[in-house]
Amino acid sequence: MYYSAMKVAVLTSGGDAPGMNAAARAFIRRAIWEGYEAHGIYHGYEGLLAKEIKKLSSRDVGMIINQGGTFLGTSRSERFKTDEGRQEAADILKAKKIDALCVIGGDGSFRGALNLSEVYKGQIVGIPGTIDNDIPGTEYTIGFDTAVETAVWAIDKIRDTALAHGRLFLVEVMGRNSGQIALSVALSCGAEDVVIPEEKNNIEGMVKRIREGREKGKRFGIIVVAEGHDEGGAIKLAQTMEKDYGLESKVSILGHIQRGGTPSSYDRVWGSRMGEAAVRFIKNQYTNVFTAMKGGQLVPAYLKEAVSGIRTVEPEMVQLVRIVGS
Ligand code: F6P
Repeated sequence: MYYSAMKVAVLTSGGDAPGMNAAARAFIRRAIWEGYEAHGIYHGYEGLLAKEIKKLSSRDVGMIINQGGTFLGTSRSERFKTDEGRQEAADILKAKKIDALCVIGGDGSFRGALNLSEVYKGQIVGIPGTIDNDIPGTEYTIGFDTAVETAVWAIDKIRDTALAHGRLFLVEVMGRNSGQIALSVALSCGAEDVVIPEEKNNIEGMVKRIREGREKGKRFGIIVVAEGHDEGGAIKLAQTMEKDYGLESKVSILGHIQRGGTPSSYDRVWGSRMGEAAVRFIKNQYTNVFTAMKGGQLVPAYLKEAVSGIRTVEPEMVQLVRIVGS
């Protein structure tokens, strides 16, 4: 009897990621299937504070699984970062009688959820949704696969012109604090090297490797640069390489195209599975957990673990890029 009266809500927060729609759709439909009343909160925490909350039916989430972005909209809310803002959000959830909240987003959104739990008495479950794949405690965050595919698609085109002119290209990909996207992209497109925030001061080694490649007859090169590396983006890195080492290069910044576009089937599958799992975790009375992929399985993991830092990159992967790109 209690469960038929249960009211659950879902929001998307932070940077949008392809596959968020699949996750929200699965959450809503699984909740309704369970007999819950399902709600969508529009525009993330900012929308929660503006009471942009709407009861949704299964039909309201039709025709969205194949769409990029998030039909709920998103935000990076400054107001929600304050104690007053979160208290206001908790009061709104209480007034609307929302028993459980599902937050789809990255580490910043999860930190917000955890802080909210100090004043909100309902259950909170997260779904890791960020193209960065940088959340500790899970092997996957939805959106990563599509973002990598998009970057690889773009670099395959850059490679043609790089080869034609015999040029060196620095291609900047997203990843403010993490080299996960850069590493997968570099390996997938046969880049000569990769520059990531996790590895400090590697310019000299990179220049040496580029020169060795030229001596071996390499006429062109692709270096994948994560936006957050310590030299400060691909433009800055290109300037340093020219000034300090006399090495000319062209720069291409892929930017937000990596966040948009049709989600890959992988992101649709894991978005759907995580959306469904989130409702199951709520049903099983979990709170302050998220749907984590561990050993290929979905399990509840504490939000605390997710906000404990940045998921580490495998040094072997960095080495592999250099070996197979040499
Ligand atoms: O969502 C993650 C991300 O795409 C990062 O890779 C990137 O650094 C950041 O968001 C960009 O955020 P915004 O779109 O708010 O500039």
